[in-house]
Amino acid sequence: MQQIKVMPVVGTRPEVIKLAPVIKKLNQKELFSVITTVTGQHREMLDQMLDVFALNVDYDLDIMNSRQTLTEISTLILEKLVPILKKEAPDLVLVQGDTTTAFVGSLAAFYAKTRVAHVEAGLRTGDKYAPFPEEINRRLTGVLADIHLTPTDRACGNLMEENVSPHQIYITGNPVIDALQEMVDEDYQFENEKLQELDFQKKEVVLLTCHRRENLGQPLENVLSAVCDLLAARKNLELVFPVHLNPEVRQLAEKMLGGNKGAHLLEPLSYRPFVNLMARSDIILTDSGGVQEEGPGLGVPVLVTREVTERPEGQESKAVKLVGTDRRQIVREVGRLLEDRTEYEKMVPGVSPYGDGRAAERIRDVLLFEFGITKKPPADFSPGGIK
Ligand code: UD1
Ligand code: UDP
Repeated sequence: MQQIKVMPVVGTRPEVIKLAPVIKKLNQKELFSVITTVTGQHREMLDQMLDVFALNVDYDLDIMNSRQTLTEISTLILEKLVPILKKEAPDLVLVQGDTTTAFVGSLAAFYAKTRVAHVEAGLRTGDKYAPFPEEINRRLTGVLADIHLTPTDRACGNLMEENVSPHQIYITGNPVIDALQEMVDEDYQFENEKLQELDFQKKEVVLLTCHRRENLGQPLENVLSAVCDLLAARKNLELVFPVHLNPEVRQLAEKMLGGNKGAHLLEPLSYRPFVNLMARSDIILTDSGGVQEEGPGLGVPVLVTREVTERPEGQESKAVKLVGTDRRQIVREVGRLLEDRTEYEKMVPGVSPYGDGRAAERIRDVLLFEFGITKKPPADFSPGGIK
């Protein structure tokens, strides 16, 4: 039997989280042979996720450097990936999202004249520099892709406005919801001592994450100053901050929050503890893309420390609010939610606009159709039901 040879190319934490459910689904069918290639754009944070999802790696480009530049990431991936593509000659390269790994992975596939499928296609802010470089990474990946797997109707619409053929677009939902549903558990027990000790019932727990390149420097300093103000004003507040491994984030976090009793600076958490921490927190303050997608399904308000988002569905569902990086604005917004129960309740719809946990299955079915194994195109998914 002729197998479809699929090469997922992943480099960072969120790519593993979002492609793991898809890789698992493909591996369940003998029709697919999967060669997982990691660029190692992230090292520890990538390995942490490969471990939790028990993914086997066939090729590891191992490119990460401390304080790496976009040029270094891009050139190293291109140089190291092209010979592997030549050797393996896959039928399809599978990329996810808007990282430099996703963009350069697609570019290498194009040079090898290999088809590209793009998961989480069609997200746009319309602003070239926000987020930087992700808005351009995902646009360029879209230009190179042959199969566009979009999470929502809106993302599909964005691609159609750019004249992508509707025959190349499938609305599947985002597989992050598949991953999330597998990991959230009401009875979950934390291994981390700080999290074990934290009284989620009695305390006001704010979970913070940050890493965006355009927020490094003054904007991040503003966010951390806002958090310091909140901790000083609210004695019952506990801040939990799993700090991204970017040295620029870590140095500032340590400097500004290091000695603060109410601030718990943790190492990056593995996916299972992280999503269970999200589910138990009162508020999430973040500049993350993935966290904006996970929050609404968990019924926890997400305040986004950015000026624009490519994920407006979360805002429309009322679970997500953009608060920017102004210090006083952040203090006001967090304070208001903690004090006003009615405002808080408005932000907890508990329904995800990003998927129903079956995106990976749909993506597998799209590939079976695209490679001529099944004759009928899979039905498009629309958040809230099948059309
Ligand atoms: C990258 C992606 C971003 C994604 C984010 C997820 C690009 C340009 N950026 O941003 O889109 O949202 O991942 O977290 O693709 N580091 C480690 N160990 C790790 C990971 C990072 O030490 O496991 C440090 C290194 O010093 C590295 C730095 O963090 O140089 C920055 O990593 P990089 O991948 O360039 O940027 P991120 O902000 O992580
Ligand atoms: N995440 C995690 N541990 C952490 C922080 C985040 O498992 O300590 C998960 C989170 O649930 C989400 C993903 O990592 O699925 C988001 O990664 P990140 O914010 O680094 O990247 P982005 O989504 O902004 O690209």
